[in-house]
Amino acid sequence: MKTAENNSKLPDDFKSFEAEIKVASPGRINLIGEHTDYNNGFVIPAAIDKKIYFRFRKNNTKNLVRIYSETFDAYVEFNLQKITKSTNSWENYLLGVIDEIQKLGKQLQGFDCILKSELPIGAGISSSAALECGFAEGLNSLFNLDLAQMEIVKLSQRAENNFVGSNCGIMDQFASVMSKKDHFIKLDCESLEATLIPAKIEHCKLLLLNTNVAHNLADSEYNSRRQECENVVAVIQQKYSAVKSLRQVSFNMLEEFKEEIGAIGFKRCQYVLEENERVQETEKALRDGNLQTIGKLMYASHRGLQHQYEVSCPELDFLVDFSEEKPFIYGSRMMGGGFGGCTINLIEADEIDAYFEEVKKVYQKKFDITPTAITVVPDEGTQITR
Ligand code: GLA
Repeated sequence: MKTAENNSKLPDDFKSFEAEIKVASPGRINLIGEHTDYNNGFVIPAAIDKKIYFRFRKNNTKNLVRIYSETFDAYVEFNLQKITKSTNSWENYLLGVIDEIQKLGKQLQGFDCILKSELPIGAGISSSAALECGFAEGLNSLFNLDLAQMEIVKLSQRAENNFVGSNCGIMDQFASVMSKKDHFIKLDCESLEATLIPAKIEHCKLLLLNTNVAHNLADSEYNSRRQECENVVAVIQQKYSAVKSLRQVSFNMLEEFKEEIGAIGFKRCQYVLEENERVQETEKALRDGNLQTIGKLMYASHRGLQHQYEVSCPELDFLVDFSEEKPFIYGSRMMGGGFGGCTINLIEADEIDAYFEEVKKVYQKKFDITPTAITVVPDEGTQITR
């Protein structure tokens, strides 16, 4: 990778950068509860020990923002009074955050920021939430904006909805900000009530296997899944006015409206209702330390995402199928929005190296792509590190 020293656009005064504020903002995993957040359901995510690191300083101007991404070796300048969409997607996460902060009536001034990421992009571990939340937290601290953690979560989600154009739910930003080391969060995405559950997985570890594919269907299909669910809610609502989201929809209601909502609507929503039940069962199994049950629920979640919600892809299915024969893997499933990214695997720690060598060979042979292994530990949410 190139360094700051040979990026021609980089201002001289970036070469010695005395940071006033430093922030570390994590990616996230999700044990179970996929595509349930925007349906006001349940999820069990956790922040991870892989992060984006930010350094901030004021630059004594009124409106000039200067940002350097060490990861992309990219330098960009914005004017705080002229926040418009960029053609570079990573910049939009930051522009969106600035826009949402300004919409809250909070005053920003010129500042500089350098960032560096250890999160792979398109892997389904939410580098985007890490970017938004870390950036928002840094500005909060640099300019004493007095934003509570929950405001950081919500404005970061809005930045993604309004500026980036992804209609995402709240899980990623919530997990990135609110997580606690060595815990999962069981989040009720309707009430936003969060319960911490100790990540008691004994001799096991959480292994992410990155397919290293990111099919470009991801964004459009994500938004259309959300729409499909909302359409069903709109139909059921006509008779049952208390129904505001799939959260108030029962299996019986789905049966009752089976014809009207059509086969696709039916299976999408059936998946969501079943996944919410699996989250509840996983919470219990996690508290009981019952890894077998957690694993079974993870596999069932994957099959639902594959066949009912249809957001998986051949590469993810292959990795999950391959793991299913292994006695030392309790559970495996695709994680995040789908159409590529990672599987999350609950695996005996001392089997990881040998298993990765084995799966790498067969995956490479089949798809001509090398997968990547990332072992993760549930970690603290976005933090000021000074
Ligand atoms: C993406 C979104 C989340 C969530 C997941 C699917 O990560 O950002 O809000 O919907 O997909 O569970």
